[in-house]
Amino acid sequence: MSGSRVQYRLENLQRYYYQGAEVIKAIDGIELTINSGEFVAVLGPSGSGKTTFLNLLAGLDKNTGGSIYFEDCNLLKLSDSELCDIRQFDIGIIFQFYNMHPSFTAQENVEYPMMISKVTRDKRQTRATSLLQQIGIYDKRENFPAELSGGEKQRVGIARALANDPKVIIADEPTGDLDSENAEAIIQLLLKINSEGKTIIMVTHDESLLTEEMRILHLVDGKIAYRTM
Ligand SMILES: Nc1ncnc2c1ncn2[C@@H]1O[C@H](COP(=O)(O)OP(=O)(O)OP(=O)(O)O)[C@@H](O)[C@H]1O
Ligand SMILES: [Mg+2]
Repeated sequence: MSGSRVQYRLENLQRYYYQGAEVIKAIDGIELTINSGEFVAVLGPSGSGKTTFLNLLAGLDKNTGGSIYFEDCNLLKLSDSELCDIRQFDIGIIFQFYNMHPSFTAQENVEYPMMISKVTRDKRQTRATSLLQQIGIYDKRENFPAELSGGEKQRVGIARALANDPKVIIADEPTGDLDSENAEAIIQLLLKINSEGKTIIMVTHDESLLTEEMRILHLVDGKIAYRTM
């Protein structure tokens, strides 16, 4: 495991929205280094910029000021195809509402990112099966999303995020749709994945899910108002 390699370096990060004469400072001057292998929990009131922050880290949105370095790459300076490669291979995303393909089985949903990455059929089946086993949902692999509970769908979502063996997992309220027991189980899985070396950056509203393994960032008005380190 590469303990303290720098994963992200944010310098005066800004994401402003311009609406007519109004400027909305969704992210407003964040300075932060995230090391490889960290588990970062992002908290903050509604509208404080949490989703905007994750979208910038995931390369899904572009900053309007400052810089984000992913390892040594300035995300803003990458070409579209370089950015696509990072999104496809280095970053796995877990969604609050699962974003499953409804006509794919659990296993096919996990295989899908590997299909996009042109992994051969045999290899992706073997990897999907093994991930579903590790995540404890192998017996539901033939079920369609409508035949899975929320907790089960989120397990599939985690397996899918791991499909291309990313360095970073980004999760926006991954337990927001779950009851406390299922939420706790999902956090335990994320902690296990983190202990195996993945960097995790997670937004949550639920302070009862925080653990001492996590580095906590509180966003207020697009700024870091409080942090544990
Ligand atoms: N596309 C957009 N255009 C204009 N303003 C936007 C846009 N997206 C987000 N914002 C604004 O940016 C700010 C931060 O939004 P963001 O979605 O990041 O908040 P959040 O912390 O994720 O909130 P929540 O907890 O409700 O999900 C808000 O003021 C929001 O209204
Ligand atoms: Mg949000």
